[in-house]
Amino acid sequence: MTDAASTVLLRGGTVVDEHGERRADVLVHGTAIADVGSGLDAPAGSRVLDAGGCLVAPGLVDLHAHLRQPGAEEAETVETGSRAAARGGYTAVLAMPNTDPPVDSAAVASEVLALGRGALCRVAVAGAITVGRAGEHLAPMAELSALGVRLFTDDGAGVQDPEVMRRAFEYARGLGVTLAQHCEVSDLSAGGAMHEGAWSSRLGVPGVPAEAEELMVARDIALARMTGGRAHFLHLSTARSLDMVAAAKSEGLAVTAEVTPHHLSLTDAELAGYDPLYKVSPPLRSPEDVSALRQGCVTGVVDAIATDHAPHPPEAKETTLQEAAPGMLGLETSLAVSLGALTDGTGMALVDVVGLLSWRPARVAGLHDQGGPLAAGAAANICVIDPGERWEVTPARLASRSRNTPWAGKTLTGKVRHTLFRGEAVVVDGEAQR
Ligand code: DOR
Repeated sequence: MTDAASTVLLRGGTVVDEHGERRADVLVHGTAIADVGSGLDAPAGSRVLDAGGCLVAPGLVDLHAHLRQPGAEEAETVETGSRAAARGGYTAVLAMPNTDPPVDSAAVASEVLALGRGALCRVAVAGAITVGRAGEHLAPMAELSALGVRLFTDDGAGVQDPEVMRRAFEYARGLGVTLAQHCEVSDLSAGGAMHEGAWSSRLGVPGVPAEAEELMVARDIALARMTGGRAHFLHLSTARSLDMVAAAKSEGLAVTAEVTPHHLSLTDAELAGYDPLYKVSPPLRSPEDVSALRQGCVTGVVDAIATDHAPHPPEAKETTLQEAAPGMLGLETSLAVSLGALTDGTGMALVDVVGLLSWRPARVAGLHDQGGPLAAGAAANICVIDPGERWEVTPARLASRSRNTPWAGKTLTGKVRHTLFRGEAVVVDGEAQR
């Protein structure tokens, strides 16, 4: 059974999972963890990877990645996006359905799942709530859920019609799946290119008010209560959105929420130079919102940090703020940006930040082979993180096919050294192995 060629020993690190932290080596045979303990021996011929000074954690899990396939392969593909994910420490991503055509049928979902089969991480698929993401008729949710789809969203847009959303919750409840909402009342956000506030007034740029998000959060909490359905709130960006989620949770409603690394670290002041790299939906908000999102991570109201990795080709960003497409890359910088915002920014323990990036999102998505804990017999989906390594973000070196990162040229702290996906060392010393 023990084939040295498929044996990897992660030596000298600190294992971090939902049970806490301990110094231990991790021995992997084939696709599973064989042993966790100190001073483990590697069978002759097996690969030994240095984890000295590093955290050895369950692989990260991204609830929100735009892989752009089918339809926008010039921006990203499942292959390039999953390689970016693996370099970022991810062993699973949930591919968003706003592709072309969208994932509103079993045929398209099957296509993306098939593309994901040879990928460097697990590629799970989110389905659209409505046909064509047009907000009018429900997508065939039962057919999609039969393929294993567990989260449904029209992300990129919110479902505007409350009656459609009510029916969607009723179906979702019956199927045991979750509705993930992009909260944005389009009548309030139309034409806006940044957060509506002092900066948008000063810059003369039409804004998107916080209320465009908050009204839909309030509505969907009411609908979740009414129907007993499960709601996940995507990329929340305002203090009051989190207050409402906190209240819904204390009422016992089945709601979860994610925030992005960029909303935890950047404010609307970044738009002062009218640079479309900072245009994102929902927009970067006020410093008070940023602190509230960080606080939500500390208190546990936030369930997950999700990247909203949104690759775009140069022509979509090299234009005016008004015309530019919203979104920024996230998969390769998420860990470092999150550590910077939360361990430096709030004093949060590393283990809790890793939880927001790994086991807590794994639970939201129902990905049972992900998120640890790291113990003998568990699937070997692991990332090895050097929390102190400083590195400069060089767009040309990213695995993503796109380059739209606001972190270009910046130095971040915290880097993924190795990633093991189903026991295979897919990233070694920061480099993807295929
Ligand atoms: O900034 C964003 N970009 N937000 C979204 O909701 C969609 C995404 C995209 O698809 O580019």
